[in-house]
Amino acid sequence: MAKLDFKPGNMLFPLPAVLVSVRDRQGNDNLITIAWTGTVCTNPPMLYISVRPERHSYQALVDTGEFVVNLTTRELAKATDYCGVRSGRDHDKWAEMGLTKAEAVKVNAASIAESPVNIECRVREELPLGSHHMFIADVVHVTVDEDYMDEKGSFHLEKAGPIAYSHGTYFELGKAIGTFGYSVRKKKKRTKKAGKARNHS
Ligand SMILES: Cc1cc2nc3c(=O)[nH]c(=O)nc-3n(C[C@H](O)[C@H](O)[C@H](O)COP(=O)(O)O)c2cc1C
Repeated sequence: MAKLDFKPGNMLFPLPAVLVSVRDRQGNDNLITIAWTGTVCTNPPMLYISVRPERHSYQALVDTGEFVVNLTTRELAKATDYCGVRSGRDHDKWAEMGLTKAEAVKVNAASIAESPVNIECRVREELPLGSHHMFIADVVHVTVDEDYMDEKGSFHLEKAGPIAYSHGTYFELGKAIGTFGYSVRKKKKRTKKAGKARNHS
């Protein structure tokens, strides 16, 4: 298999593109699209977002240390892009995208009602890395759209039409091709010992 050499760069794709909501000290709500984000710890639950200091949202993040990560869907794709190319300095992105504010439960910010999952976060540490500062945060509360819960209490994010971001393009998820541990799962006659997958976290 022939390979080409690339200079070091950001090649880790696909990623989620999330809508992060922040509220500044004056109480103004803003939204910023973030793709540099991820889970960093299961217990305690923690995630990070990396933000350029020149973003309008940056100062609110530093001042309040609180934000909400709103997961995005097919229906939210346009707003996801828009909030990533317009600044809260001169735009009310909430109003312009017709998004509904739902007051967050544990942090001082608004969650997006139209988003299936709202992850409320409190910053634990800010790491200046270069172009971006990484905000490592505790997840302090989560709300989910009850429409995607089944009768057994399982949450089905896939039914909300989640989107991914890859090299500048937004994609819908494709079809499911396996579930956690399927590679080692016995197809028939499962005994208690055999075929049991370890927890992935
Ligand atoms: C798909 C996408 C992903 C983005 N990811 C990031 C990111 O991870 N960090 C960042 O600082 N800016 C990111 N941006 C750029 C900001 O969202 C953009 O500069 C935005 O206008 C800043 O808004 P604000 O000035 O209101 O804070 C992204 C933009 C798009 C479209």
